[in-house]
Amino acid sequence: MLSKTMEDALNRQINRELYSSYLYLGMSAWFETQTLKGFAGWMLVQSGEERNHAMKIYDYVVARQGKVQLEAIEAPKAKWSSAGKIFEEVYAHEQKVTGMIDALVELAVREKDHATFEMLQWFVKEQVEEEANAATICEKIKTVGDVPGHLFMLDHELGKRK
Ligand code: FEO
Repeated sequence: MLSKTMEDALNRQINRELYSSYLYLGMSAWFETQTLKGFAGWMLVQSGEERNHAMKIYDYVVARQGKVQLEAIEAPKAKWSSAGKIFEEVYAHEQKVTGMIDALVELAVREKDHATFEMLQWFVKEQVEEEANAATICEKIKTVGDVPGHLFMLDHELGKRK
């Protein structure tokens, strides 16, 4: 069974993953307004992945006979100034999420909760990939130039993400 402290922390993380999903959905909607359909599609897939992250923790809390407590999801902002600015924000956000996962791992160690520690290892590895993806796209945008007219090829490339 989960300790109350661990259960509360996992419930907070469910909320944060759902916020990430909402944030990326908002970014997808913004890209739609810029007619950058490939970027919009990439963000939509990312938004779905974040919901899956939330559900991974949700399923785990249920499996441990814990109580899932869903809280209100903060509204993300709706406007950004450029594709490059968005991906800088994604990169910073993912680094923040890595910090949250690390804090959960540290809590699991303190609580001597080996099962939660083990479950969180998936997220530890996932965050390496999440940060790398965002950093790579930031670099690509810098290389081609952060203006819509220069982003056509990258838009095509990102649009291939399933
Ligand atoms: Fe759920 Fe992008 O980390």
